[in-house]
Amino acid sequence: MVSADEGETMARTLAPAAREQIATRLLASSARHTLDPNVEIDWDAPLVEGRWGMPPERTSLWGTELWETLDEAQRIRLSEHEVASMLSVGLWFELILMQMLTRYAYDFDLREGHAQYALTEVGDETRHSVMFARAVAALGTPDYRPHGPLHRLGGLYGHIGAGASMFASVLVAEEATDRLQREALHDERVQPLLRAVSRVHVVEEARHVRFAREELARLVPTLSRAALERERWLTALVSCEVVNALVQARVYRAVGLSGRVGRTAALANPHHAATKRYMTEKVLGFLREVGMVGGASEVVWRRAGLV
Ligand SMILES: [Fe+2]
Ligand SMILES: [Fe+2]
Repeated sequence: MVSADEGETMARTLAPAAREQIATRLLASSARHTLDPNVEIDWDAPLVEGRWGMPPERTSLWGTELWETLDEAQRIRLSEHEVASMLSVGLWFELILMQMLTRYAYDFDLREGHAQYALTEVGDETRHSVMFARAVAALGTPDYRPHGPLHRLGGLYGHIGAGASMFASVLVAEEATDRLQREALHDERVQPLLRAVSRVHVVEEARHVRFAREELARLVPTLSRAALERERWLTALVSCEVVNALVQARVYRAVGLSGRVGRTAALANPHHAATKRYMTEKVLGFLREVGMVGGASEVVWRRAGLV
């Protein structure tokens, strides 16, 4: 007889067979629905006048006094720079993820489905990164990847990130951007090029999210109490840095504001705080359920305004 408690643990600890089954399904889905951005997206089409980079109410200054001082053209320009910033930071995190996934596959027998799926995901991310880079170039904005210490820390994390905190912080980055892209995809105010980019990304990220969630549900119950605490802290610190970096302060220069003035207004803007919570609430619910959010490290999430 299995007690209710044991049954729960067993359900969370995926047996190797279930893990292979999921990997096989993800590989089959990849074979059917892998999208080539070079084919799916009309890169030669000019940008459409008057369309937004993202829904205006999702820009970081929407609803502020500063927003009232901007004319329509400036507001649209800001939305283009903000989405370029998110795409750049997304690209930056994908480069880190590709390194981590390659190291992850390195340890496995490559005849196994989950090792092959990890490599398939690396393949998806290489196409996404090129797609994001082309979209940023098409918008005519700077490359907004983080500079300085965060750039160096990201490089280091790519070399050492592993285990439960790797999958958890990857999930936060993927699910947070996915939520905004799902909205943009259906919004006719948004530039068609960016809607097409969102569509490609949403289709493929659904598999990545499934893979990372399953790996996490399998890994967490194997951690000792001390290891779980460490992984929770790492997850909170990495994830909050990434969410915080999504809108780089440099974007405000595009509408004649200093980075500091724009950033201060954005951080004080309750609409922007609500957007960040909207982006992360689903994934944080999952992380809490599997035990990756909780304990002393919650202070990091709370300080970032995400719980
Ligand atoms: Fe991606
Ligand atoms: Fe992904």
